[in-house]
Amino acid sequence: MLFKNVWYVADFSASLTADPLKVRMLGRDFVLFRDTQGRAHCLSSVCCHRGASLAQGKCHDDDTLACPFHGWRFNGEGQCTMIPSAATPREGIPKRARVDAYPTQEKFGLVWVFLGDEPAAAHPLFDMPEFGNDGWRMVTFTDTWKANLHVTKWVDLDQVHLHIVHGIALNEENPSRPSEHQVSFTTNGFYTDLVSHPPPRGGSWAKLRTERATVKSHLSFYVPGFTLYGRIDIGMPGSGFVNAFYSLSTPVDEENTRIFLVAFRNFMLEADKDKDHLDRNLRNVYQDKAIAEAHQPKRTPDRVQFPDIAIDREDRLLRSYWELMRSLRARGWQLDRLALDELDRRGDYRVIASPARHTDPDGWVYGTVPMIPADPAAAQAGAGARASG
Ligand code: FES
Ligand SMILES: [Fe+2]
Repeated sequence: MLFKNVWYVADFSASLTADPLKVRMLGRDFVLFRDTQGRAHCLSSVCCHRGASLAQGKCHDDDTLACPFHGWRFNGEGQCTMIPSAATPREGIPKRARVDAYPTQEKFGLVWVFLGDEPAAAHPLFDMPEFGNDGWRMVTFTDTWKANLHVTKWVDLDQVHLHIVHGIALNEENPSRPSEHQVSFTTNGFYTDLVSHPPPRGGSWAKLRTERATVKSHLSFYVPGFTLYGRIDIGMPGSGFVNAFYSLSTPVDEENTRIFLVAFRNFMLEADKDKDHLDRNLRNVYQDKAIAEAHQPKRTPDRVQFPDIAIDREDRLLRSYWELMRSLRARGWQLDRLALDELDRRGDYRVIASPARHTDPDGWVYGTVPMIPADPAAAQAGAGARASG
């Protein structure tokens, strides 16, 4: 169950250097490259001429990327601007000599790509107030999990596992029972604020919280980047010591997901504390990875079927997540993976529709990925549910 019309993280900005970079997302091949101004672009990597991978090509100082096979050059809009073997290489270029180009922006040290044809309808990017702020220290990490996109979010959003998997006690009386909390929807996701009463923590951060405390946590889910944002009190009440993390997921395909971690702390700001900070976060990440990669089925069902067995308050965040997924489906943004599997089997390569297809649907070499049709009635019901919280 994968969706177009979402801003996804293609990679860290630092990974995109002078050479083109191949990125697989939504089961399709894309290429990122920088022009002479340093601006990042994202194109479908499959050359419209004979299907070579543009990611094996070269960047040129006329702000184009040249195909590795016959040297056709494509600009950041995906337009072919030169065919070296032609009598007049820069003139008379056929209309169909173009590939799909996707809106791209760099923010928070990440390259964001909008994979879809309706950027105006997108859930807006969130803010990352800690980024670039002197009061915060940042550590980052990335990995690819052999797990479905949604499973990578369940191991983020699920509350009970915090104690069972990570050993993070939520409350003294019953360490795995979440505190009372309400979920509120926003323009690009939902959030909740939790109050818990965990026992003092161990390890090198132990001196920050020395006795039973009332600990506040804020959790947000954002559709852009399929991001979980957590802001967790680390110290005693009033200390203001916080671990803030962003856990982002980009679907490589139906069964593999690239995860990105961007974590901040506003205490122990010395660089030599970075390793401990990252290790503490990664301990949880690897525990989640083990759960996620062993999960069945490898692909989530085509339709949202959750919840099977719902147990009161612990499932609230996951229910909210599924409600959001239902709304994306209702808007006609879910890829029809069975139809796409069949097309792939037949060698009929399909691309994610880019914004240019919206205004100019004709004259493209490749067709677009089939989609589950929109369901306006369901979209309406979803909007009503969200309004009533
Ligand atoms: S395959 Fe790309 S230019 Fe021929
Ligand atoms: Fe987890």
